[in-house]
Amino acid sequence: MILAQKKDLLGLKDLSKEEIELILETAAPMKDIIKRDIKKVPTLRGKALATVFYEPSTRTRTSFEIAGKYLSADVVNLTVENSSVKKGESLRDTIKTIEVMGFDIMVMRHSMSGAPHYVARNTDIRIINAGDGSNEHPTQALLDLYTIREKKGTLEGLTVVIVGDILHSRVVRSNIYGLSKFGCEIRVVGPSTLMAPEIDKLGVKCFYNLEKALEGADVVNILRIQKERQHSGLFPTLDEYANLYMVNGEKLKRAREDVLVLHPGPMNRGVEISSELADGTQALINEQVTNGVAIRMALLFLMAGGTRDEIAN
Ligand code: CP
Repeated sequence: MILAQKKDLLGLKDLSKEEIELILETAAPMKDIIKRDIKKVPTLRGKALATVFYEPSTRTRTSFEIAGKYLSADVVNLTVENSSVKKGESLRDTIKTIEVMGFDIMVMRHSMSGAPHYVARNTDIRIINAGDGSNEHPTQALLDLYTIREKKGTLEGLTVVIVGDILHSRVVRSNIYGLSKFGCEIRVVGPSTLMAPEIDKLGVKCFYNLEKALEGADVVNILRIQKERQHSGLFPTLDEYANLYMVNGEKLKRAREDVLVLHPGPMNRGVEISSELADGTQALINEQVTNGVAIRMALLFLMAGGTRDEIAN
């Protein structure tokens, strides 16, 4: 089992195509469990999972918690706001404290790029990166890949457009690392002030005009404008941003008729996505959330040493 040989899941940059496929294939039977009346299997009985979030989260933290519970793990959530971090305890001491309580897997989100990598080097617990600064958000990209593959039947050769705040987004980097392993054409589009300088080195095509970027697209993944990270006036006003880069039904006519619309959430309706599109039939935003639970169940299962043959019995 490939993932059982890796201690941590820190990013999609480090995963092979085969490892990603294994996670996606394992998520499918996990999704069946979510649909059952009794959503509980004994697979991770006796395992302990801690979620440690230094940044706010609704989807990622909650879905890891419920994923662990559906698999019968014991799950503890450390909310930094109510922890001894507030008394000045260091990251290293916080993690050591959790380690010696006997946890098997720790899910961690941090505002600093590389924080989960630092923790992974300094603890025996398996670490899953739930988003680090502007670096990676691997489980978001995995659920995005799952959602696309479920609808299109394949990932190979698709044209995927990623729109918005490329500079600050960890979702875009993990999506690029994942999609490029499946031969997708990846286009990133946004204002030049929100375009990361090194992004063209990752094999993507950069656009500054949304309509041009959307020509013939199979998938459009719309990023959240991260208001909390905009400290230096990178665009004049939200209205101006919306005028040029908000994806709506009219602009989407440039894409293929069967285009899929993704957004990792939370959304700024009327800024990066129109409400009409967010609530329309092309949008898969709620399915992404459901798939996020299945992906995280699959990951917990595989990282705890589960094999393909014993899935979902
Ligand atoms: N997509 C995502 O990471 O959402 P949360 O911040 O709510 O976890």
